[in-house]
Amino acid sequence: MAKLRTQVGIIGAGPAGLTLAHLLHLQGIESVVLERQPREYVETRVRAGVLEQGTVDILCGSGVGERLKREGLQHEGVELRFDGKGHRIDFRELVGKSITVYAQQEVVKDLIGARLGYGAPLHFEAEAMRIEEYDTNPRIHYQHGGDSQEISCDFIAGCDGFHGICRPAIPEGQLLIHERHYPFGWLGILARVRPASHELVYNYHERGFALLSMRSPEVSRLYLQCAPDEHINLWPDDRIWVELRTRMATRDGFVLNDGPIFQKGITPMRAFVAAPMQFGKLFLLGDAAHIVPPTGAKGLNLAVADVRVLTRGLVEFYRRGNREHLAQFSERCLRRVWKCQRFSGWMTSMLHRFPHEDSFSHQIRLAELDYVTGSRAASTTLAENYVGLPFDTPGLF
Ligand code: FAD
Ligand code: PHB
Repeated sequence: MAKLRTQVGIIGAGPAGLTLAHLLHLQGIESVVLERQPREYVETRVRAGVLEQGTVDILCGSGVGERLKREGLQHEGVELRFDGKGHRIDFRELVGKSITVYAQQEVVKDLIGARLGYGAPLHFEAEAMRIEEYDTNPRIHYQHGGDSQEISCDFIAGCDGFHGICRPAIPEGQLLIHERHYPFGWLGILARVRPASHELVYNYHERGFALLSMRSPEVSRLYLQCAPDEHINLWPDDRIWVELRTRMATRDGFVLNDGPIFQKGITPMRAFVAAPMQFGKLFLLGDAAHIVPPTGAKGLNLAVADVRVLTRGLVEFYRRGNREHLAQFSERCLRRVWKCQRFSGWMTSMLHRFPHEDSFSHQIRLAELDYVTGSRAASTTLAENYVGLPFDTPGLF
């Protein structure tokens, strides 16, 4: 069995693992990234699309933002549409910030390109099987190319997503799990058709939620609220377009053109937080520690926010021998996580129909949307959270 050594062993090459590895490299801290999937798989996995300004600043400030600056679509507002009418929330005017639409897999491609470009270790089809002694002498056992290998390291970063091995490795009783399952999911599609609006449109309709987003001037990303366990075969393309048109219709005749659908999937919706996000020398980041419902577009941004906190902690430790930041990792991350859970939960209940609810709930929701779009104070609250709350601890970027 081959035995290797590094400073930080990173499990998972999603946005969390790759951003962490990149920021550490720039600070002269060595790491090895293990990813169980092939490179092509992670570079084409379709997920999130909205980057907060803070995420863009970290990517651009660390030198991986060239394509993002060129191809990312900068948006200065979103539309909330209900009762057949659209209402724009103007981020620029309300809070002086914007968001960028740039697909998660493009961020992942840029980070992989950078890491392979400077020749730092990133192993695909390398599956971490177990971690050992992560409170004293951390080691990762993994399978790569049919061989068993071991890495010993100073710290382990569990960036292995919701279904990874790191969180379950923490002994029972050490973690508090906070969880909420929503009685619906999102059916998401990518279609080769010019987006019907130049900004995102969040639609509330009595038949349920719908979202118009995009990936480029030629590709639309569209979502529909559906049952959480619904089979995708129940949704032939024609049915999807009819349902999208119904939920997005306006009284002044909004037109949604269809086009070839080249990707389709259903994601059940849940909210989840595991606390604390650290145990000994093991740190959990991104989806390994928390899941937010996608209505607030926070999943990827929260993963990058965790990375920012851990990078600062590791730099303080390696440069100055100061362990204080590392000790506060979980506490610092969770403050932001819970604020994002609050916002994403609020957006989700304001924009979705719940099964068996009465007409009272529907009317209250319409009143809430009317209030949010009509009150400057309420619109500002939405805008401030959507573009990303300021970081309340200093980072490196
Ligand atoms: P991940 O991206 O999940 O990366 C974890 C990585 O670890 C994966 O590459 C996995 O293969 C690897 N891994 C797991 N176990 C091991 C192991 N044992 N050994 C080695 N590698 C391992 N957010 C939004 O904001 N908007 C959206 O529309 C949206 N859609 C989503 C759709 C789906 C289907 C999912 C699952 C998530 C979606 N999210 C969305 C959430 C967002 O994509 C995540 O928050 C983001 O991917 C978190 O990044 P991460 O790096 O923490 O985890
Ligand atoms: C997306 O473009 O995939 C997207 C946008 C906004 C969300 C969720 C997903 O709230």
